[in-house]
Amino acid sequence: MRIYEMENYDEMSRQAANIIAAQITLQPESVLGLATGSSPIGTYEHLAKLYEQGDLDFSGVTTFNLDEYVGLPADNDQSYRYFMEDNLFNKVNISPDSINFLNGMSSDAETECHRYEQAIIEAGGIDLQLLGIGHNGHIAFNEPSDRFERSTFQVELTQSTIDANKRFFASIDDVPRKAYTMGIGTIMAARKILVVVSGADKAETVKAALTGPVTAEVPASILQFHQDVVIVADQEALSRM
Ligand code: F6R
Repeated sequence: MRIYEMENYDEMSRQAANIIAAQITLQPESVLGLATGSSPIGTYEHLAKLYEQGDLDFSGVTTFNLDEYVGLPADNDQSYRYFMEDNLFNKVNISPDSINFLNGMSSDAETECHRYEQAIIEAGGIDLQLLGIGHNGHIAFNEPSDRFERSTFQVELTQSTIDANKRFFASIDDVPRKAYTMGIGTIMAARKILVVVSGADKAETVKAALTGPVTAEVPASILQFHQDVVIVADQEALSRM
C-alpha cells in the first residue's frame, strides 16, 4: 500500500486526478470505478480541467459507479447519477453509452444487482477503482457488519450514514433508507484501488482501516489485503497514524 500525504484537500484532489489521468493516458480504454460524496469532488474538478486543457481524453473510458440510492430516479438531483453528471460526465468527452450505473428505480434487487455484476465482467473488470471512506469505515455502501459481501447487493443504510447524508436533503425523512451497492468482493476485484480521504473527522477511521485488524466491522480495513492500493490523504486525515 502506498500512502501519499498531501497538504490539504486541493493538493489531495490534484494528486488523485493525476493518478487517474496517468491511468487513462497509459490505457485509453480503461474501465474506471467511480465514487460520489465530498471526497472526490475536487478530483473530478481537476480531471475536468485536464480535459479542458486538452491533456486528457475520456472518449475510450468506461465507468461504473459504486452505488445508487433505491427509489431515486436518475434525474433526481440527489441521485448519484445526477451527482456524476454534474461533477464529471457533463464536463468531459465520455460517451454516454460507456457510463454504467445501478438503476435505483429497479424494484427487482436481485436482477438489478446481477445485471451490474455481469456488466462489469463483460467490460473486462475494473482497472482503477476510486473510493472514499465513510466515518463509520464503510466503502461504497458496505456498512459495518459481521460479514463481507461478495457481490453487488441491496443494503439497508445505517443510521450514521443516513445522518451523514442528510446534509444533501431537505429533511432527514427524504434520505433514502436503502441503496444498491457494489459488494466488497466487487471492489476487491478491481486491479488498482485509489482512496481519497480528507479531514480530521476521518483520522480515527483512517487509522483503524489502515493499521487495525481486518474486520467487516471496519469495511475499509479489507483494503489491507489488496495488492495495489494507493491512499491519497490530506495531513489531517493522517494525523492519527
Ligand atoms: C460514495 C460512496 C461512499 C462515500 C463515503 C465518503 O459513492 O460510496 O462510500 O465514499 O460515504 O463520503 P464523503 O466523501 O462524502 O465523506
